Amino acid sequence: MERTLSIIKPDGVKRGLIGEVVRMLEQNNLEIVAMKMLHMTKQQAEGFYAVHRERPFFQSLTDFMSSGPAIVMVLQGENVIARYRELMGATNYKEAAEGTIRKAFATDIEQNVVHGSDAPETAAFEISYFFSQLEIL
Ligand code: CMP
Repeated sequence: MERTLSIIKPDGVKRGLIGEVVRMLEQNNLEIVAMKMLHMTKQQAEGFYAVHRERPFFQSLTDFMSSGPAIVMVLQGENVIARYRELMGATNYKEAAEGTIRKAFATDIEQNVVHGSDAPETAAFEISYFFSQLEIL
């Protein structure tokens, strides 16, 4: 049994895609065990993406992630990290496979609608960044 963090990024919320993304999660049997809406400060976005702080896109990414409300969720299930990453599709929407969230909705490499943890250690960090134990079913 694994857990992963999912974010519907500010572009997805602004474009009215919350329902579409949640529908795709449910249709693919990705169980949601926690969910909330929040608007990250620039500092909170920088803390969340600290691993990318040396990347050239760090400033722009953290500006974007703090530009509006996002939905954060915890998904749980067997092999859920890999299963959710497969459903999201490649970071670069141009490389995303048919049937994935980014293929369906993303139009930009940075504003790519969703985020998902990439490994058990990052999932543990990312989940605890937004949720306390009490908030997860
Ligand atoms: P995410 O899966 O949230 O992880 C890091 C984010 O950085 C990524 O999605 C994109 O939003 C962004 N990102 C990754 N690569 C690039 C890039 N080459 N240019 C701009 N943004 C990027």
